[in-house]
Amino acid sequence: MDALNDKKQLRTLGTTNQIRGLLTILRNKETSRADFIFYSDRLLRLVIEEALGYLPFASQDVTTPTGSVYNGVEFTGKVCGVSIVRAGESMENALRASCRDIRIGKILIQRDEDTGLPKLFYSKLPKDISERHVLLLDPMLATGGSACQAVEVLVEAGVKPDRIIFVNLIAAPEGIQVMTERFPEIKIVTAEVDEKLNEKKYIIPGIGDFGDRYFGTL
Ligand code: URA
Repeated sequence: MDALNDKKQLRTLGTTNQIRGLLTILRNKETSRADFIFYSDRLLRLVIEEALGYLPFASQDVTTPTGSVYNGVEFTGKVCGVSIVRAGESMENALRASCRDIRIGKILIQRDEDTGLPKLFYSKLPKDISERHVLLLDPMLATGGSACQAVEVLVEAGVKPDRIIFVNLIAAPEGIQVMTERFPEIKIVTAEVDEKLNEKKYIIPGIGDFGDRYFGTL
């Protein structure tokens, strides 16, 4: 994992007790659905705010009410979100809470019954997406199959890979490896990197099925 961090493609939230406390609630199988939604939303907001920090900024000086000059910065450029349906849709509220009026596209990828490989079923993206930085949203990075396919869809729509930030809650090393090898220019921002995938491709220790727990389809 250090090698990936050295490449500066992977960013995790700092391991503060606040972050670990939120993850502890989410990982606990006894957590109620109401708490799962509430604490996921809190943590999702934090990863999205972290991801926004990797967009381009330029210097901007402002005068404060005390008459002093503050040497600040302002975001330059255009940004949009793209959620990978269905679990990625859980991140849309947190993104809207951080970026007013943000455009959000959607990509639906499912496993092809015949080939067993991820297949694109639907996409709807902002028309000017090729001019934008894209926050690609999916809370779980497991094998990286769907995430890579989603990046492929964005690249085909004209988005430069170095303008794509994959925003995530929990990532498996296997998925990080696959994504960063295939797209060495994208960034991944996640709350925590877990140990491994199990034989059913669930992340271990993980959280279970995020979409089922968040949307109540258990
Ligand atoms: N998707 C999930 O929701 N959970 C996992 O552990 C892996 C993929």
